[in-house]
Amino acid sequence: MRNKIIIGNWKMNMNTQQLKEFIETVHKHKDEISSSNVIYGIAPVYLHLQMAQSISCEELNIVAQNCYFEEKGAFTGEISISQIKDINLKHVIVGHSERRTLFHESDEIINKKVISLTNNGLTAILCVGESLHEYETGITKDVVKTQVTEALKSISSESMQNVVIAYEPVWAIGTGKTATSAQAQETIKYIREVVTSLYNDEVAENVLIQYGGSVKPNNIKELLEQPDIDGALVGGASLEAASFVELIKNSL
Ligand code: PGA
Repeated sequence: MRNKIIIGNWKMNMNTQQLKEFIETVHKHKDEISSSNVIYGIAPVYLHLQMAQSISCEELNIVAQNCYFEEKGAFTGEISISQIKDINLKHVIVGHSERRTLFHESDEIINKKVISLTNNGLTAILCVGESLHEYETGITKDVVKTQVTEALKSISSESMQNVVIAYEPVWAIGTGKTATSAQAQETIKYIREVVTSLYNDEVAENVLIQYGGSVKPNNIKELLEQPDIDGALVGGASLEAASFVELIKNSL
């Protein structure tokens, strides 16, 4: 049985006071939401990571939204994986569609990040997903196959233990249009087949694959009931502590 993984991607939202209140509320509900097979966490902005890590309990993982692949040096505005490791974080989101489109991150850059993260023993939450145009053209599977294949170049079977894949159709992000659970299941099952073709059945059976795109407390259960969906990457609905707690409760 694979674990479930629910991560709140806060994007460029929240201030330090809101962060503190959020973490306090989640702590109050810790006993109701902690389970040995559900991993959960939040990804605040870089600026708040250290504070979040210092006040958060072990169960509420603090996740970075991005990283740079070089070890150190003249890369103004970036942060390195060793700096993320230095404050004991374990997961980093890479290749989010907003990074791909607004900040022009290529599959090649994303691959470098996945390589550096796994080499450092951190877990890469690798986002893939088709745009609205690609969806309407009927090329979803080709798009995710290319993104997964390119991002996982030079990643060994062993390193795949440190990779989580997040399937996020771009047309469903922040739009209120969720893919139906059947659509999400179909593409995620296909991603698992791509992983089988790149590695083997065992790696594909073990890799956690999340769905993301307008996940809410009222639709997470149905999504997670699908056999290949192992969790959710949640934007908007993760910003309120009560809603975040509901999301986790409905995943148990
Ligand atoms: P959303 O964002 O839940 O607000 O659609 C998801 C994401 O971008 O990860």
